[in-house]
Amino acid sequence: MQAAVFDLDGVVTDTAKFHFQAWSKLAKEEFNLDLPASFETNLKGISRTESLEAILKFGDLLDKYSKEEVQNLANKKNDYYVEAINKLTKEDILPGISKLLTDLKANGVKLAVASASKNAPFILEKLGLAHVFDAVADPAKVKAGKPAPDIFLAGAKAVGVAPNQCVGVEDAVAGVSAIKAADMVAVAVGDKNELRQADCVVPTTRNFTYQLFSDVFDRYHK
Ligand code: BG6
Ligand code: MG
Repeated sequence: MQAAVFDLDGVVTDTAKFHFQAWSKLAKEEFNLDLPASFETNLKGISRTESLEAILKFGDLLDKYSKEEVQNLANKKNDYYVEAINKLTKEDILPGISKLLTDLKANGVKLAVASASKNAPFILEKLGLAHVFDAVADPAKVKAGKPAPDIFLAGAKAVGVAPNQCVGVEDAVAGVSAIKAADMVAVAVGDKNELRQADCVVPTTRNFTYQLFSDVFDRYHK
């Protein structure tokens, strides 16, 4: 294992919930639409525009808004979201993550971020982790979003490591598909059944350890 390529929202910090809160607020205010809790999983890992399209489709509203209106709605959601992430501090790093990053680094493993979020650099800054990662892949520069492998491949490339020498880390179904499409070993946090495509799924980030990552990687490459 030469590199670990991390998703950010829901893996390093619990911002996945803020995304869904912001979308829920927008959907209620703008479309009088109640998003069921079960809808959150569909929105994880996919871009801002794709998320809005999924919501409009769910509400049978897809043809009702012009391109410009869609852009304005996406911006509005982002304003709600940024309001929430503005309050982040290093206390909001999920349990087990700081030690995991330290231990990976101590073992010579490069660290990259492969998030679909354009807010990733801002969040890393807020968490005090901007200088801990060796690279942050830019989602604006990749052709296709998750479940396509592009952003994970960009993360591996940015730290100069071949994809098959990387472990990818995710909480989203689309993200696990992206890791596997990139030919990386996938470690996931969340629901075992939903994320079954991963090589290892744990219930919380507290279960993430250097040993676990290294064991899963070695088992896969045996
Ligand atoms: C991903 C989230 O990390 O980033 C998605 O899982 C989100 O829910 C996507 O839509 C894009 O984020 P942003 O901050 O660019 O709107
Ligand atoms: Mg995520």
